[in-house]
Amino acid sequence: MTQAIDKARDCFIPTYRQPEFIIERGEGVYLFDDRGRRYIDAIAGIAVNSLGHNDEEMVRAVSAQASRVTHTSNLYWTAPAMELSERLVAATFAERVFFANSGAEANEAMLKAARRAHFDRGSKRFEFITAINSFHGRTMATVTLTGQPKYHQGFEPMLPGVSYVPYGDLEAMAAAMTPQTAAILVEPIQGEGGVVMPPEGYLAGLRQIADEHGCFLLFDEIQTGVGRTGKFLACDHDGVIPDGATLAKGLGNGMPIGAFLAGPALSACLVPGTHASTFGGNPVCCAAANVVLRRLMDKGLLEQVVETGKYFDQAMQPLIGAGRPANALRGRGLLRGLELKKDTPDLPVIARKHGLMIGMVAGGGVVRLAPPLTISKDEIDALVTALSAALKEAGDAASA
Ligand SMILES: Cc1ncc(COP(=O)(O)O)c(C=O)c1O
Repeated sequence: MTQAIDKARDCFIPTYRQPEFIIERGEGVYLFDDRGRRYIDAIAGIAVNSLGHNDEEMVRAVSAQASRVTHTSNLYWTAPAMELSERLVAATFAERVFFANSGAEANEAMLKAARRAHFDRGSKRFEFITAINSFHGRTMATVTLTGQPKYHQGFEPMLPGVSYVPYGDLEAMAAAMTPQTAAILVEPIQGEGGVVMPPEGYLAGLRQIADEHGCFLLFDEIQTGVGRTGKFLACDHDGVIPDGATLAKGLGNGMPIGAFLAGPALSACLVPGTHASTFGGNPVCCAAANVVLRRLMDKGLLEQVVETGKYFDQAMQPLIGAGRPANALRGRGLLRGLELKKDTPDLPVIARKHGLMIGMVAGGGVVRLAPPLTISKDEIDALVTALSAALKEAGDAASA
């Protein structure tokens, strides 16, 4: 297989550093490689595989839709997209939705809607304020709104009119407002930035600032949404209603889909001809998303995430505190960041030797854990055992 990987390395534009094995299949929270090794998938395609791998109901729904019709363009109605729009409107603050194929595209739609809504009111507001260490995507607009200079390098000039303020700092946000500010865009929990929780009252404070200055409040719920934190949207924990929010990742359980959820202020500005997406609302992807929504909202999975999230907290405690590898566990529900005492960027490589897949964020200082929402308590125990072993090996190697 090394030969096949070498060949692929020659063909791929090398934007990723894949390891020396091939993933062959998945089952629940487990992935299996071509060497027959099994891994607990504690990152789930980066918060994507909400129902885990090879979920029976998901496979049935996707196969059934694929055998009916796979694509029609948005010029026609299809039942899965219609059902999904109704489910999302029922589950959230949204009055209407726009379907995209990815997180970045959902954010693009939302940012365009914010500008367009001001334009419709005869205003020239075009500026956006975002947070330092945010992550909003890799397209030119969304990478500009990503408050991490390393992602801008070599791609300048960035979109004009974007400013950056420290996450959690309401005074800085208020001070950054100008008469041209169109919208504030933040993540209700910063994912890629290190699983950073907002301080108490931050989201409500942003709502107040946006209202006082006549701009829109936009939440990027691409990583935090679709039940990942124990509520359908993470902003639901605070009861704060934005003007727009975006979903992607967990929505399709691996089928590529994003959604822009528009509240009343943004739901009427994108009219025919103003915005579009060839694949957005693809019926196979929407059929997958309907299974996710049904399981979360109708079949008790959302409540289960609250329970397993609490269990996760307890189970991780032996890794935290004096004489142990971590300082704290951040995040909520099943979006967690284990804050390590020492940066360990190569921990994912060591963890794989212990049959565990994890992610690292914040320069290797935080282990990002976002397992399938269906993970059981026993599987959480197995995850913690493997992570402890990996951290011990990393610690032994560092002190050797
Ligand atoms: C909060 C957030 N926004 C946007 C994106 C971009 O999503 P995509 O990679 O689907 O374009 C990501 C991806 O990691 C994300 O975590």
